[in-house]
Amino acid sequence: MSTSPSEAKIRVCFVCLGNICRSPTAEGVFRKLVEDAKLAHRFEIDSAGTGNWHVGELSDPRTRKAAEARGIALTHRARQLGADDFDRFDHIVVMDASNWAHVARLAPTEAARAKISMMRAHEDKADPVAEVPDPYFGDESHFDEVLDICESACAGLLRKLHSPR
Ligand code: 4NP
Repeated sequence: MSTSPSEAKIRVCFVCLGNICRSPTAEGVFRKLVEDAKLAHRFEIDSAGTGNWHVGELSDPRTRKAAEARGIALTHRARQLGADDFDRFDHIVVMDASNWAHVARLAPTEAARAKISMMRAHEDKADPVAEVPDPYFGDESHFDEVLDICESACAGLLRKLHSPR
C-alpha cells in the first residue's frame, strides 16, 4: 500500500547542549537515512540546543568536516529549544542525561515529557542510560565517534518509527 501524501508527518527533533555538534549531526544522519529510504515526505526533522550560546551559527567546522566525509552536508543554524517545541514535535531525542534534565524541566505536561528519549536507547544494543559523548573539547576522533553512534541510533530510530508495510 502506498502512503497517502496527506498522512500526518512524524516530527522528530534532536537535542544537545550547543546545537553545533551532536544534535545537528543526528539531524543530518537521520535526514540522509530517511531520504535514502524515500521517506522524506513522511518526516519533519530538526535539531535544537538547550543553551543559547551558539544561536544562529552553523555547526562547528569539525562537525561539518566529519559529516562531509560521510556524504552529509550540514546547513543547520543553531537554535534554542523552547516549550513550544513540545507542540511542534512528536519525538524529542536527547544526547545525554544533562540534556534530558533540561528538556524535562521545559516539558509543560506529562504527555510532553513522554516524548523525550535518549538517543542511544534507539541502538540495537540499547542501553537506556548510555550517552552520546560531547566532542566539543575533544579531537577529530571524537567527532567521528559521534557520527558512528548517530548512524547506529538513527537506523534503530527509523526502524521504530517506520515499519514497511
Ligand atoms: P553540542 O556540543 O552540545 O554537541 O553542540 C557543545 C557545543 C558547544 C559547547 C559545549 C558543547 N560550548 O560549551 O559552547
